[in-house]
Amino acid sequence: MIGQPVNRVDGPLKVSGRATYAYEYWDAGQPLYGCIVGATIGKGRITRIHTENAERAQGVRMVMTHQNVPVQGVRDESVQFEYWRAQPVLTGPDIHYHGEPVALVVAATFEQARAAADLLDVEYTVGRGRFAFAADDDEAYIPKVVNAGLPTDTAVGDFEAGFRAAAVRVDQRYTTPYEFSMPMEPHACLVEPRGEDLVVHVSSQIVDAAQTSVAATLRMAPERIHIVTPFVGGGFGSKLGVHAETILAALAARVLGQPVKVALTRQQIFQLVGMRPTSSQRVRLAAGRDGKLTAIAHDVTMHTNPDLEFAEQTAATTRSLYAAPHRLTSHRLTPLDLPRGADVRAPGEAPGLLAVESAVDELAHALGMDPIEVRIRNEPTVDPERDVPYSDRHLVDCLRDGARRFGWEHRPATPASLREGRWLVGYGMSAAIRGHFQGPTAVQVRLEADGTGVVRTDMTDIGTGTYTILTQVVADGLGLPADRVRVELGRSGLPTSWGSGGSWGAANSCAAAARACAALREKVLVAACGDADSPLHGRDPAGAHFGDGSVRIDGAEGASQALGEIVARHHPEGMEAQGEIRFMGDDPNYSDYSIHTYGAHFAEVGVDADTAEIRLRRMLGVFSVGRVLNPKTARSQLIGGMIWGAGAALEEEAVVDSRSGAFVNRDLAQYLVPVHADVPDVEAVILDGYDDKANLLGAKGVGELGICGAGAAVANAVFNATGLRVRDFPITIEKLLPGLPDVDA
Ligand code: MOS
Repeated sequence: MIGQPVNRVDGPLKVSGRATYAYEYWDAGQPLYGCIVGATIGKGRITRIHTENAERAQGVRMVMTHQNVPVQGVRDESVQFEYWRAQPVLTGPDIHYHGEPVALVVAATFEQARAAADLLDVEYTVGRGRFAFAADDDEAYIPKVVNAGLPTDTAVGDFEAGFRAAAVRVDQRYTTPYEFSMPMEPHACLVEPRGEDLVVHVSSQIVDAAQTSVAATLRMAPERIHIVTPFVGGGFGSKLGVHAETILAALAARVLGQPVKVALTRQQIFQLVGMRPTSSQRVRLAAGRDGKLTAIAHDVTMHTNPDLEFAEQTAATTRSLYAAPHRLTSHRLTPLDLPRGADVRAPGEAPGLLAVESAVDELAHALGMDPIEVRIRNEPTVDPERDVPYSDRHLVDCLRDGARRFGWEHRPATPASLREGRWLVGYGMSAAIRGHFQGPTAVQVRLEADGTGVVRTDMTDIGTGTYTILTQVVADGLGLPADRVRVELGRSGLPTSWGSGGSWGAANSCAAAARACAALREKVLVAACGDADSPLHGRDPAGAHFGDGSVRIDGAEGASQALGEIVARHHPEGMEAQGEIRFMGDDPNYSDYSIHTYGAHFAEVGVDADTAEIRLRRMLGVFSVGRVLNPKTARSQLIGGMIWGAGAALEEEAVVDSRSGAFVNRDLAQYLVPVHADVPDVEAVILDGYDDKANLLGAKGVGELGICGAGAAVANAVFNATGLRVRDFPITIEKLLPGLPDVDA
């Protein structure tokens, strides 16, 4: 079953509305509704909050502000990953960013809560905020580490000398805007007090993080917090940790002794869950006339919130992508009074490859060389900065296969030379690379006396297909038909996983499940072969085969026994085994090898010769991700990422009002993302593969690879169509129009 394009096992539940999401639980009884009130200034201090009118309004049960909020835990920087730390809210009168929660109004109905929230009167003294980003800001500082614990700076060889000496040089600055995760299901939470405990129905990517974080914030024992998140309507990083809606719902539920639910509005998502930092990236590439890189530098400056540091690892994969003897990477942070930066799909690679893979295209143009050829000539034999072998690198295979499928030979070698009617047509390509991560994950697999298999882990399914791939792995592992396997996810109390994020979820949970199956097969064989009444008695378990719900051992004559029968005879309560995957830091493969996934993106665009309207015509991605668990769900992840990449190239941009620090386009009417009409033809192809260094299944992450480099392929196609290079993303009409070539001249 592994590797088959199995339909989502949870699909029928979702399309029939029977998959229950965090905000939708009713078995807790009639809940109260909380409405978050946000600051209307970007920096300053609350001088007074008049709560009386709101408190007197119909149905209102509570107005919680910094003046009456229960004591909360503080952020503990010694906790390694921020999503496991306390996330206190309403911590005082100071305002740190526009929209920061200043109150929660709780009422009997949503409408009453919202109406009362409007009656809240907050007086501020407005401080002088810093809201405008500048790359050369004097206040830029050097963070200790960047996201995921990666080093801030690296240097190999003598970059300056290498750069100076080269025949061909590119030295350009690229900027990327603030970008937001926008899951279809808003961040939402329903908290039900149960005795001393809290049952927290929340939309979350990592159950363990949510439990630990809520407990630390409310200063409760973690075992008193019960996280329930079986279905999650998208995450993209913004649900790795919990946010104000969860903490406020929990605080209010505890104070009132009643269920309370709070959801962010779409506009509040643009304020309260963090965003991809804006970046300015200087990329310097130097090469000989043969196209061989001699020097690579990638220097990144980003915004950060002054109190909640976040340094996106934007230059991290530049350390691994191409060979060159002289290399530099760096990350700098400029503090601004804006919401914190946060993980957004492919943190680091998404904006980083937009810049670097544009620069490689610029280098190819300067060399007069095909951009694929330039990349192939700079293919490293070992990881150029870590000096360790690659576990399984197939970038060149992806480039060659993609070129053939896409018809790359039809690309006009000269920019702005292909015209079809009113359209200037261009082809672009880019490499894709993404780090592969592994986190501590436990999965329990059970066999019931009726012969069904049960998979249990607190892993989440954020729409990616976890239920389905775990079904496949365990169906394979125990020799059961898929409809005899049941998967339980997304609840604290189940074996602890690292959840969904960093594209690690599928590989972690499936490898742990495969290990659990191996241990369980062993137990089944010990029981059956040692049972005088079993047809398998005395046979050599080494020859056992699990299939069709039975175990068979071939000997002089074949013998088999149904799994359910074995379980019923020996452990009528069920047989179980647990499989575990270690943290990558404790797994020597992750220090001895450079473990990544790869791909090649291809895009064709048309640019209107008169209006500069840019239309994406088609995209192709060819990827190498180790073994594919399910090509249908994997493809869905990849094309989603590619479309997001196209959006980053052409559309997405959250704009800050530099007077107030507010995001002015904070809704999906004004914050543009690709819609169907923007996405004509996108295909993702996955090469057969198996990375034996990654884990026992040979599988690596898929979810974030699709976005990596996808935008650069589109940007490079725009250059090929027009001869214009826009380095300030997104590439919009007004940036292209002034330079558009006069093709009729
Ligand atoms: Mo991903 S940005 O780790 O959900």
